[in-house]
Amino acid sequence: MHVRKLQALAVGLAAAISFNAWAQSPIIIKFSHVVATDTPKGQAAERFKALAEKATNGRVKVEVYPNSQLYKDKEELEALQLGAVQMLAPSLAKFGPLGVKEFEVFDLPYLFPNKEALYRVTEGPVGKSLFAKLDAKGIVGLAYWDNGFKVMSANKPLLMPADFKGLKLRIQSSKVLDAQMRALGANPQVLAFSEVYQALQTGVVDGTENPPSNMYTQKMHEVQKHVTVSNHGYLGYAVIVNKKFWDGLPADIRSSLAKAMAEATTYEKAIAQRDNNMALDAIRKSGKTTIHMQTAQEQAAWRAALTPVHKDMERRVGKELLGAITAAAK
Ligand code: LMR
Repeated sequence: MHVRKLQALAVGLAAAISFNAWAQSPIIIKFSHVVATDTPKGQAAERFKALAEKATNGRVKVEVYPNSQLYKDKEELEALQLGAVQMLAPSLAKFGPLGVKEFEVFDLPYLFPNKEALYRVTEGPVGKSLFAKLDAKGIVGLAYWDNGFKVMSANKPLLMPADFKGLKLRIQSSKVLDAQMRALGANPQVLAFSEVYQALQTGVVDGTENPPSNMYTQKMHEVQKHVTVSNHGYLGYAVIVNKKFWDGLPADIRSSLAKAMAEATTYEKAIAQRDNNMALDAIRKSGKTTIHMQTAQEQAAWRAALTPVHKDMERRVGKELLGAITAAAK
């Protein structure tokens, strides 16, 4: 064969090989989150990975980075917008710094009497309208995930609102949570989730709030002598994805991923309460913390102290939104 022809053949072959390699190299989804793998969110992220990789025959590879391994709270939102990671599931309390403060409505104390009321909001038009607000930030909301209702902890018993006076309490970055702690007479301090254990251990803060699953998997109960099961507020998540990445996916891949997400979401909701019950039990069994189940009388006093926060935060979260949620949650 003529040398020129051979050369042309070689070039063509090389191009075909590299095209093939390109065509076959999987689409990578980096999914970063801040909690442990054995939490509701951590397990659901793993479930999504398995479902997504199976449904796309390996054309998509999901890399889950738990425990703030890649980024802390605020950094991960920046990383998502920059496209350094593709997927996150931040708590609804963490969207303020992104400029979507309406999500903080979920932090209002005693907003949802139960999970059914919550689902009427997240799965209905309100949930959709909140996701629509992410669009302008280059983000698509894929699903709402649960954690649960929060407990309060410190090194002293927290029975009545007066017990909070002067305590330094760690909160997430939400202004509603700030108002909640101030309404109890405490001094709120925003800290990244990854810094909470050490801050409690060294006394930088005196106490905090979270559902039991987060408390237990971060070992916070080892550095907190008292936990009050108050269920005063809700903690949930929005699974979000970089919009440019999502919109740029081949349509068949995108729909497979959406289906995998829907299945992972059903799973997540099914395990959240169970995990929190188990975590509370494990905290009790550890013997390191005294667990106080709030009495009706104590709850009435907390409610009286905390309900005014709804009115105070009405302007921040939006009066109409709050009205719609209150109506749906009834
Ligand atoms: C926290 O920062 O306290 C939690 O929201 C962490 C999480 O994502 O559950």
